[in-house]
Amino acid sequence: MKKIIFSLFLILFFSINIIRCQKEFKMLTLLTAQVDDLGFNNMINQGRIEVAKDMKIQDSRLLVVDGLNDTLKYLLPIVQNEDLDLVICSSQGHLQACKAIADMYANSPTIKTQFLVRGSSQSTTNLIYISYNYASANYISGYFAALYSNTGKIGFVSPGAAAKNNDSFVYAFWMGARQVNPNIEFYYYNIGNFLDADKTVAATNDLLDMGCDIIGNTLDDFSTGDASIARGFPAIGTNGFPQRHVFGENVIFSYAYNWTKFFLPIAQSVKSGNTNNSQWYADFNFDENKNFFHLDYGFEVNQTILDKMNMELDYLKRTSRFSHPYYCNDLLPQYAKENGLPLVNVSGISLPIGCISHASFLKINKPFPGMTYLGNYNIKLVEVEFPQSVQYGFSITTGVLIAITLIMMLGIVKYKSTPSIRSASPIFLNFILAGGIIVYIGIIVWVSTPSNHQCNARLWLVTLGFSTLIGSLVVKNFRIWLIFDNPELKSISITNYQLFPWVGACLVINIILMSILTSVGDLKEIDANGIDSLGKYEFMKVCKMNQAGASTLYTILAYFAALLLVGVFVSWKIRIVDIQEFNESKAIANTLYAISFCLFVIVPLMISPQDKQSETIVLCTAGLFITTAALLIVFTPKFWRVFTLGHSGTNDMFRKKQSNVATARAESGSKSSSGPKLNRRGNLVSDEFTDTETSISEKKVNVVAGAVLAEFTDDTVSEFEDNSIEQENDNDENNNNNNNNNNSNNKNDINDSNNMSSNNEEKQKEVEEEKP
Ligand SMILES: *[C@@H]1O[C@H](CO)[C@@H](O)[C@H](O)[C@H]1NC(C)=O
Ligand SMILES: *[C@@H]1O[C@H](CO)[C@@H](O)[C@H](O)[C@H]1NC(C)=O
Ligand SMILES: *[C@@H]1O[C@H](CO)[C@@H](O)[C@H](O)[C@H]1NC(C)=O
Ligand SMILES: *[C@@H]1O[C@H](CO)[C@@H](O)[C@H](O)[C@H]1NC(C)=O
Ligand SMILES: *[C@@H]1O[C@H](CO)[C@@H](O)[C@H](O)[C@H]1NC(C)=O
Ligand SMILES: *[C@@H]1O[C@H](CO)[C@@H](O)[C@H](O)[C@H]1NC(C)=O
Repeated sequence: MKKIIFSLFLILFFSINIIRCQKEFKMLTLLTAQVDDLGFNNMINQGRIEVAKDMKIQDSRLLVVDGLNDTLKYLLPIVQNEDLDLVICSSQGHLQACKAIADMYANSPTIKTQFLVRGSSQSTTNLIYISYNYASANYISGYFAALYSNTGKIGFVSPGAAAKNNDSFVYAFWMGARQVNPNIEFYYYNIGNFLDADKTVAATNDLLDMGCDIIGNTLDDFSTGDASIARGFPAIGTNGFPQRHVFGENVIFSYAYNWTKFFLPIAQSVKSGNTNNSQWYADFNFDENKNFFHLDYGFEVNQTILDKMNMELDYLKRTSRFSHPYYCNDLLPQYAKENGLPLVNVSGISLPIGCISHASFLKINKPFPGMTYLGNYNIKLVEVEFPQSVQYGFSITTGVLIAITLIMMLGIVKYKSTPSIRSASPIFLNFILAGGIIVYIGIIVWVSTPSNHQCNARLWLVTLGFSTLIGSLVVKNFRIWLIFDNPELKSISITNYQLFPWVGACLVINIILMSILTSVGDLKEIDANGIDSLGKYEFMKVCKMNQAGASTLYTILAYFAALLLVGVFVSWKIRIVDIQEFNESKAIANTLYAISFCLFVIVPLMISPQDKQSETIVLCTAGLFITTAALLIVFTPKFWRVFTLGHSGTNDMFRKKQSNVATARAESGSKSSSGPKLNRRGNLVSDEFTDTETSISEKKVNVVAGAVLAEFTDDTVSEFEDNSIEQENDNDENNNNNNNNNNSNNKNDINDSNNMSSNNEEKQKEVEEEKP
């Protein structure tokens, strides 16, 4: 019993093995996209599934691949190693590679693979061709569209030049519509691609706006349908997928390919080894088993339309396709003549109707009279503007600051005779403020809408403003340094007119650099997209310059850095000046702190990825902060002194008459000492200050406070000459001078301990020794 069971088992085992050993039918289907495209590839896949089910094929694979090189690369090893029976090359994109591989193994004793490819050429031992009538499918869709359209306007979206066959199928659609309504208005767009949902939707909306109520397409996806449905219009399915299965009654008409009807007999013939009937053509057919297109209508489509459709379908099935209206019509003789297409003789058809071949049909691209070609659709980009609120915020803040600066300018003019202001040269103070105003205006321009002029103006204004501001500050303090820190302690008279050229030089350098930037930098406004977080179809106006421009800009920045360094040096030099009015080293140091603080924040911000808008905000805020901080730091103490001290300065000498002489440099102005102010060197001059520098220097007199002050204003001479009070007191001055002289002599030692450098002290002593 056991043996019987065992032998039965063995028999079973071997018989299974024998069945297994029988060669399985292996099939590979190439697709150009995944099966979820609700279009062509999905339909091919349905055909593959039906074939596998019907023929009980276990090994029925899919390969998603496109183009000659990729198809060769992936398909060839499979063909070589897997002993496939049938390869379905479903798309035109596979044609070349499949043909090449088929050629390789055309008479191979080992590789017997059959290739099903698209087209209608002469078949070979292992190459089967299949073609389907896409023109009739489009023709019948157009026919339906014209029947259903209420407005008499229909639209179409096609890939255009991206399709090898140009717009011939658009023409077939239109020809169908024209057959129904010779006056149909027809508008169509090219979108340059088989798959570009954004453009398709935009183009569809455009067509709907123009009054078209039915939009057809020869694209891979259903975007025209989606867009139509979204707008409440009916959609038609024209890419071979039964769209009504997905979108229901929103789709009033669709045709679907049934590849099963062709793949199945082909696979069966391959399996049986009979591939003689190796050219297949899929079209409308009375024989339901060969009727490739399955039409489906919505319930809204009334019987009248259905009847007309069926009549036309019957006509198409009945007659040879070579005489169908898309190949033969009354417009073709003229069109063919104009476009160099040859007419062909078709039996039973004579002029005025002319016919063209399918090959000529595929060359049709220029619209026929009656078709309106709207061109390549380009999505209009939407501009993303700089937020208005930020723009207003900056403009208003800056406007207020400009107003404050103007008030300060008036204040300078009003208080120009007070020691505090006068010692700081009112003209240069106004220059500094004017520079600040220019920077402020530049910032307002900076946040405004970019244009070519704005791009240039904002750089010009901001750089010129900073040049004026920093240049004036540096030059002004440079004079203080020269006056207070000259070794021979000569009276040096430097008038404003001698200094203006230096400020001018700063500006000229700036202007030259900016001119270079403007001329070679190609600084202009561009519509940038793909930057920042901009959407695909948004753009932003930004300023852009070329490499040369950027280099020049860096040069300008370096120039500013140099200017600031000079400023730092000068302020370090004048730190020894005791008189607050002259000593701006603190102010400059504080300004530098402000700038460095700003840079520490800005540089990381600029380096880290951030969008243009925040960049603008950061730069403008920094510009505002630096300018305002500089102005406040420099000017607040001055005005504070004006208000607290009025016409008396911090230093004794200001309280004396202006014509009094006292070496400012040597002034040891210790505010604590309540007694008479002491001059460090005692080298007092008995002369009243005059503008004749020679006389002063000849006498080797030292710098006098009055002189120092005088040099800071242009109207020195007139003031001094016209000042009757001063003239009255001429005699007193001499006394004062003498007093001072004595004082300083007495207290020489004490004063030496003050904050002068030892070098200076030695010099002072030398000078002092000369004196008596
Ligand atoms: C395919 O490969 C050939 C040579 O291997 C190359 O010249 C050609 O550019 C490639 N085509 C594409 C579309 O990559
Ligand atoms: C059928 O529909 C078309 C358009 O939708 C319309 O023009 C026609 O009058 C309708 N026919 C009937 C019988 O309702
Ligand atoms: C496709 O054709 C086959 C064979 O005629 C048929 O069985 C199948 O139902 C058809 N498929 C569709 C979706 O109509
Ligand atoms: C192919 O067709 C030819 C003639 O049409 C016939 O002689 C031949 O036997 C056919 N081959 C097969 C395998 O059926
Ligand atoms: C078409 O037929 C006419 C005569 O019927 C002939 O003269 C002409 O050459 C033919 N054209 C072609 C392209 O065969
Ligand atoms: C498509 O149209 C373009 C421009 O009209 C033409 O150059 C090209 O040859 C056409 N393509 C075909 C396949 O006819």
